[in-house]
Amino acid sequence: MKNRIFLDALNRKNQKGYVPVWFLRQAGRYMPEYRSIRSKYTDFFDMIKKPEVCCELTLQPLRKFPLDAAITFSDILTVPEALGSKIQFISGKGPVFSDSFRNSPDMKLKFNSDDQLSYVYEATKLIKSKVDVPLIGFCGSPWTIFTYMYYGKSPKNFNQIQDYVRNNSESTHEKLNIITEITVEYLRNQAQSGADCLQIFDSWGGIVENDYHEFSLQYVDKIINSLHDSIPVILYARGLKIKPFTKETSAKIFNLNVNENIGEYINEEIAIQGNLDPNIFHENDNYLESLAEEIFEKYSQKYNYVCNLGSGLTPDINPDKVSVFLNKLRFLNSK
Ligand code: CP3
Repeated sequence: MKNRIFLDALNRKNQKGYVPVWFLRQAGRYMPEYRSIRSKYTDFFDMIKKPEVCCELTLQPLRKFPLDAAITFSDILTVPEALGSKIQFISGKGPVFSDSFRNSPDMKLKFNSDDQLSYVYEATKLIKSKVDVPLIGFCGSPWTIFTYMYYGKSPKNFNQIQDYVRNNSESTHEKLNIITEITVEYLRNQAQSGADCLQIFDSWGGIVENDYHEFSLQYVDKIINSLHDSIPVILYARGLKIKPFTKETSAKIFNLNVNENIGEYINEEIAIQGNLDPNIFHENDNYLESLAEEIFEKYSQKYNYVCNLGSGLTPDINPDKVSVFLNKLRFLNSK
């Protein structure tokens, strides 16, 4: 590996005066290179079940931009797919499942064998052999996976699941436990296949804000405690302010949302990633270059900071704007 600065920052020991950077959803629909490959497949899963395609999609943003980490091209919904749900991505609608806990409360979580996810491990091995920056493996949190399986799609109105989990707490915890066990295996296998760090996406953690520990955080902690101490794990609790729970979780690295304030966290015994608003890429080039300067000035001497976004790059973003920011940051980093 040529450049380990990202991993050093996660371990709170980056002393290079260099701000490592990668972006949530750095591969994907805002890139013409991605759209061109995507157009060859009707089905998203057909595409991601091909390790050589995942590898190519992972490398696309690394060829185009100066980035300090790679993230395996895949999806958090590989786990429910392996549990027997048929999932389609319908343009403009997001994921649509063939079945859901909401419509079929007796739906079984059928997990036959870990072989069903071996395409992710094959992709991880292949990618690892081609990159000279750290590779990030990832998964959804058990709660987020449960949320998708409950609604059978991206949730819009949260009352239903909130009522459901309170009235069916035993069966909810049973399902969360099963998803947790599978996720531990899933992450262990990604690490064994070459992932240098892992990120847990708790994209729907915000829905259970008041019972966050009971329905989500305790399972995230179970996962982190089941993994080897040497592998850094980043928690991204989307839509949640993390202050109330940074001290009561095993997570030590957090991806901050856009509405957080890095200053509140940067001097704590944790590492911080994220927080930038992806809408900055709609600003002009001067703005983007001065923002890169500001970030470099504020954080290049911090040992625990990774530049990233508070939510993913969206399809409306112009990749040239992403280049302006990243080229400026790399210029400052290499001075
Ligand atoms: O480069 C990378 O960042 C790796 C790729 C990646 C994808 N999904 C590819 C993808 C990652 C890290 C994810 C994670 C993911 N998937 C999350 C967590 C991140 C977050 O923002 O909270 C979530 C909630 C999902 C579930 C998911 N997958 C949805 C809701 C959708 C459809 C809408 C959308 O935002 O794209 C997907 C499909 C998906 N995953 C696409 C890509 C590039 C688009 C599918 C297509 O091309 O048709």
